[in-house]
Amino acid sequence: MSKVLGLFLVAIFSIAYTQLVNGHSLRGCQTRCGNVSIEYPFGISTGCYYAVHDSFNLTCNETTNELFFGNMQVVNYSHSGELRILMSRSYACYNRTRVAETISYNTNLRSFTFSNKNRFTAVGCNTFAFMTTIFEDRNYSTGCLSTCDSIPKENGVCSGEGCCHTSVPKRSKRFIIRSSSFDRDASVNNFNPCSYAFLVEEGMFSFSPSQDLQNLRNFTKFPVVLDWSIGNQTCKQVGNTSICGQNSVCLDSTTRDGYNCKCKAGYDGNPYLQEGCQDINECTTSSAIHKHNCSGSSTCENMMGHFLCSCSSGFELNATTNGCMRKHKPVNTGWIPILLGTTVGFLAILLVVICVQQKMKHMKSIELRKQFFEQNGGGMLRLRLSGAGPSNVDVKIFTEEGMKEATNGYDESRILGQGGQGTVYKGILPDKSVVAIKKSRLGDSSQVEQFINEVLVLSQINHRNVVRLLGCCLETEVPLLVYEFINSGTLYDRLHGSMSDSSMTWEHRLRIAVEIAGTLAYLHSSASIPIIHRDVKTANILLDENLTAKVADFRDSRLIPMDKEQLTTMVQGTLGYLDPEYYNTGLLNEKSDVYSFGVVLMELLSGQKALCFEKPQQSKHLVNYFASAMKENRLHEVIDEQVMKENNQREIHEAARIAVECTRLMGEERPRMKEVAAQLEALRVGKTKDEGSDQYPEPEVNEHLVGVEILSAQGDTSTTGYDSIKNVTMLNIEAGR
Ligand SMILES: *[C@@H]1O[C@H](CO)[C@@H](O)[C@H](O)[C@H]1NC(C)=O
Ligand SMILES: *[C@@H]1O[C@H](CO)[C@@H](O)[C@H](O)[C@H]1NC(C)=O
Ligand SMILES: *[C@@H]1O[C@H](CO)[C@@H](O)[C@H](O)[C@H]1NC(C)=O
Ligand SMILES: *[C@@H]1O[C@H](CO)[C@@H](O)[C@H](O)[C@H]1NC(C)=O
Ligand SMILES: *[C@@H]1O[C@H](CO)[C@@H](O)[C@H](O)[C@H]1NC(C)=O
Ligand SMILES: *[C@@H]1O[C@H](CO)[C@@H](O)[C@H](O)[C@H]1NC(C)=O
Ligand SMILES: *[C@@H]1O[C@H](CO)[C@@H](O)[C@H](O)[C@H]1NC(C)=O
Ligand SMILES: *[C@@H]1O[C@H](CO)[C@@H](O)[C@H](O)[C@H]1NC(C)=O
Ligand SMILES: *[C@@H]1O[C@H](CO)[C@@H](O)[C@H](O)[C@H]1NC(C)=O
Ligand SMILES: *[C@@H]1O[C@H](CO)[C@@H](O)[C@H](O)[C@H]1NC(C)=O
Ligand SMILES: *[C@@H]1O[C@H](CO)[C@@H](O)[C@H](O)[C@H]1NC(C)=O
Repeated sequence: MSKVLGLFLVAIFSIAYTQLVNGHSLRGCQTRCGNVSIEYPFGISTGCYYAVHDSFNLTCNETTNELFFGNMQVVNYSHSGELRILMSRSYACYNRTRVAETISYNTNLRSFTFSNKNRFTAVGCNTFAFMTTIFEDRNYSTGCLSTCDSIPKENGVCSGEGCCHTSVPKRSKRFIIRSSSFDRDASVNNFNPCSYAFLVEEGMFSFSPSQDLQNLRNFTKFPVVLDWSIGNQTCKQVGNTSICGQNSVCLDSTTRDGYNCKCKAGYDGNPYLQEGCQDINECTTSSAIHKHNCSGSSTCENMMGHFLCSCSSGFELNATTNGCMRKHKPVNTGWIPILLGTTVGFLAILLVVICVQQKMKHMKSIELRKQFFEQNGGGMLRLRLSGAGPSNVDVKIFTEEGMKEATNGYDESRILGQGGQGTVYKGILPDKSVVAIKKSRLGDSSQVEQFINEVLVLSQINHRNVVRLLGCCLETEVPLLVYEFINSGTLYDRLHGSMSDSSMTWEHRLRIAVEIAGTLAYLHSSASIPIIHRDVKTANILLDENLTAKVADFRDSRLIPMDKEQLTTMVQGTLGYLDPEYYNTGLLNEKSDVYSFGVVLMELLSGQKALCFEKPQQSKHLVNYFASAMKENRLHEVIDEQVMKENNQREIHEAARIAVECTRLMGEERPRMKEVAAQLEALRVGKTKDEGSDQYPEPEVNEHLVGVEILSAQGDTSTTGYDSIKNVTMLNIEAGR
């Protein structure tokens, strides 16, 4: 805003000024005569020149357009005190007989004086010339002598042969020349008829002997420099009364008395006028001497008398180059960038450290996972999967990350059940299918084999009444098993636990018994390699929403080689269900499962636990209690009230008989699982024939191993709950060791 206003004011002043001074002269004065401009203090008409000394009066011959100082033509002049004029030379010519004619030449310099830039020069053979001036009020003479008898050979040299010159002291005034010759004879006169003497500005005359000695008349006038100044006082003496204008300085003349004026740096114009010195716009001027020297990136800004090179913010000017460079923050505010830099550096280092740590951690965790994989029998599993049995056995091996994601980082809200054998989590796989993830408890290495066992066993079973194993994860410290999700609890829960209710009718129970018996029969005989479950109990029977039984927990199961009827193993099982013969001998065969099934059947019939320590001695062990009740014909005492109806007493009796047969002490006396299944099935079929009420479809059995299907079942939306180890703690009293 102020800048604009400033420009505006400058414009106004300029207009006013032009009207007043009209360039470099006073208003209304002639500014030119021919080629020469006329500037104050010089002028032509009255009032246009500095009148105090009467020396600055010039005239202009309008016909020839030549400017005159007195009778001398003006070439040019400068503010610094020089006036260049043209002066005629003096000469003397000779008769053949006559010698030495003296011609003088006089001139009026007014108050001006000769500059010492001039040279007094004489041209001619056997010639001498001298000048007399008033120098500091004394008569003063100087001169030179030149001799020659022939035309000098050298051109341009004025050294005494045909031409001589001498310097003139400054402050010389009044100029009188006398020239004369001596020893002139006809031969000299032939090539040099005249002698010449003149003043000339140094360097403006170059002697050319052959021509100049013959005839210098061609050059009638030579430039001569006069010194001029204002007054005869020093600047100090005149003080503020000098005629020097604004923005100009007064300078004492170096060549004479008086002073001259000079525009200050950055201003240009006529310093002898009041407002003659005008600011130079260095930014726009085309003049090379005044042009700004802001370099490159800096921008020029014109100021009164000077200019500024300015830089955009964030940059500062380098005084030596006038270019811009990045700002160098002062020290006292430097702590911010230092702090910033330090912080950034520190963060960068921290980041690198964290990255390296993460990387190492990652590598370590990969290492660990590998280690766990081996430790958890990954190698064994691979070996067993590739070596033994059918090639279509397929168990998906999940990654640890996948498991973490599926269980939301083993979140507590995802726990379905917790027990002696471990924890079961509800997991959601990336394809949104729900699974049960079983995390065994930290165990010794012997459990690895059990674990691998379960994987192998389950991977080879495809039965609608067996919980499907989908895969496993071996990369964790404790291996994980991934099952289909079955959501309606265990048979144990239904009979004795949290979910017990009256909805479990005899029809349901019988069907469940048939399903379990059929499954065990299938495991014992129909699967390609006979499997003994070894831990049949109600807690290991899962129920889905249709109360369809799903046999689970094959942790202790054994694959029995075809050529062997029984195996000697470490006795394992659950008290109450454990086959006493197996317990005593350690000999495992399929009849152990038959025993356990008998107990389960008794539970279904009686609604009582296999082993109940709270009860009196005779009813503590369900098998004994049931057998004695049967024997003493007081079965009704044992049978669950919910079950016993008028129309099913025969079936219940039959089932009870089967249960007791299954739990015979001697394995040989027990029926095979196949027979049990058939008898129970017959009971059920007979019943449906009788009453036609139960619409439950026949359990179908896939007779072949479909490991591939185990995997594809992941997408099966009908997969439901799994809860095998809920409440297991109570019953899972290991009988072995
Ligand atoms: C003016 O200058 C021109 C060229 O510079 C020159 O030819 C001419 O003679 C000059 N006129 C006068 C009057 O000095
Ligand atoms: C101007 O110059 C011409 C030729 O040199 C001369 O005749 C005339 O008198 C001069 N005029 C004045 C006013 O000096
Ligand atoms: C200026 O000079 C001219 C001729 O040189 C002369 O006629 C005139 O009177 C002078 N004027 C003054 C004020 O000296
Ligand atoms: C004045 O004239 C001389 C000779 O003609 C020349 O060298 C010089 O540059 C001129 N000075 C100005 C300021 O015009
Ligand atoms: C030489 O001088 C005399 C007398 O001054 C004169 O009469 C004569 O004409 C001159 N001769 C020449 C060649 O100038
Ligand atoms: C200088 O010389 C002139 C004539 O040549 C004479 O009139 C004058 O008085 C002299 N001045 C001094 C100071 O000698
Ligand atoms: C110089 O003088 C000679 C005669 O001496 C003449 O022929 C010549 O034209 C003159 N030159 C000029 C430039 O006047
Ligand atoms: C200065 O000049 C004035 C008038 O021009 C004159 O009266 C005075 O004597 C001079 N003084 C000196 C020291 O030259
Ligand atoms: C010159 O300066 C004096 C005091 O130093 C002052 O009184 C006077 O007015 C000034 N004159 C001008 C024209 O500035
Ligand atoms: C200015 O620039 C010159 C040349 O590039 C350099 O040597 C000098 O150090 C700079 N000055 C400052 C103050 O940075
Ligand atoms: C620029 O010009 C100024 C005068 O106008 C001068 O003082 C300075 O040294 C110059 N700087 C450069 C870098 O040429």
